Amino acid sequence: MTILVTGARGDIGGRLVSLLTEGLTEGGHRVRGSARDATTLRLPEGAETAELDLIDPHGAEHALRDVETMFLYPTRGDLGPFLRIAHGTGVRHVVLLSSPAAYDAGEYDRPIGLVHREAERAVEESGLPYTVLYPSWLASNARRDWAGQIRSLGRVGIAHPDAWVNPIHIDDVAEVAARLLTDDRHRGRMQVLTGPRSMRLRDVVTVLGDVLGRSVTVDELTVEQALEQREPWMPEPFLRGLLEVTAMAVGVPALVTNAVERITGHPAREFAEWAQSHRADFQ
Ligand SMILES: NC(=O)c1ccc[n+]([C@@H]2O[C@H](COP(=O)([O-])OP(=O)(O)OC[C@H]3O[C@@H](n4cnc5c(N)ncnc54)[C@H](OP(=O)(O)O)[C@@H]3O)[C@@H](O)[C@H]2O)c1
Repeated sequence: MTILVTGARGDIGGRLVSLLTEGLTEGGHRVRGSARDATTLRLPEGAETAELDLIDPHGAEHALRDVETMFLYPTRGDLGPFLRIAHGTGVRHVVLLSSPAAYDAGEYDRPIGLVHREAERAVEESGLPYTVLYPSWLASNARRDWAGQIRSLGRVGIAHPDAWVNPIHIDDVAEVAARLLTDDRHRGRMQVLTGPRSMRLRDVVTVLGDVLGRSVTVDELTVEQALEQREPWMPEPFLRGLLEVTAMAVGVPALVTNAVERITGHPAREFAEWAQSHRADFQ
C-alpha cells in the first residue's frame, strides 16, 4: 500500500515521512510526500515525492496513485474537490490534522476555529472514513513565537504569560499519525492529543532557559503591545482570537489526556526534550 503525506515539508508532515520511512511502523508500505512545489522538496531515501496543491488539485490523481491512507493538513480553502478525487481513486482512510480551536468555546466561531471546522466538514462530506487529530499547544510554537526575540534580546514578550498550555512534542503528533495510517485499531474517532503536563507559558520559557543554560526574562505585554508586535504572516483577526483564548486560559490548567500513550505505547514526551533537540534555533 502507499501512504500519502500531504504537507511533507511541514514540521509535522516532515517528521511523519521520516518515521514512516524509518520503519517505525510495520513495513510493506510505500511512502509518498507531497508539496505545492515538489522541485525543492527533499525527503528521506525511500520516500517518493509528488506535487499537489490541496486547494487547486489539478492532476491530483498522480499524487493519489495507489494511495490507501493519507495525512491531510487543514489547509485554508475548499478541500472538497481534492477529497472527491481521493474518494474516486480508492483512498480508504484519512488522518486529518485539526485543532482544539475547532470545538473550543472561545475559538470555534473565530477565524482559526472556522478554518479547521471547514476542513473537518469537507472530510465528513467526502464520505471517506477518517480520524481527526486535535493536538494541544505545539512545542514548535516556542520557536515560531519566541526564538527571534530570545536570540536577539535574551528575553521574550508575552501577553498573558500566566495562561496554561500543554505543550506537545511534534514527534508525538507525527508518531500518532504514523500509527493511525498503518494500523486501524485507533481509527474512526477524534483523538485529543496532549503533552504530559500542563504548564504556564512563563514556565515553558523557564524550561527553555534551563535547556539553554541561561535565564530568559519574560516581559508581560498588553494585548495592544502584542498586536503591535504581530508578525506579518499572522493575520490580525487570528492573533486577536488567539489572545482572547489565551486570556481565558489564565489560571486554568490545560487538559492532559493519555491518548499519545494509548496509541504509541510510550508516555508523551516532555517539552524539555523538544527544547533540547532545537536548542540551536534559540542560540
Ligand atoms: N500551533 C498550534 O499550537 C496548533 C495546535 C493544534 C493544531 N495545529 C495545527 O497544526 C498546523 C501546523 O502544523 P505544522 O507546524 O506541521 O505546519 P507547517 O510546518 O507550517 O506546514 C504546513 C504545511 O501545509 C502545507 N500546505 C499549505 N497550504 C497548502 C496547499 N494549498 N496545498 C498543499 N499543502 C499546503 C505546506 O506545504 P507546502 O510545502 O506546499 O508549502 C506545509 O508543508 C496548524 O496550521 C494547525 O492547523 C496547530
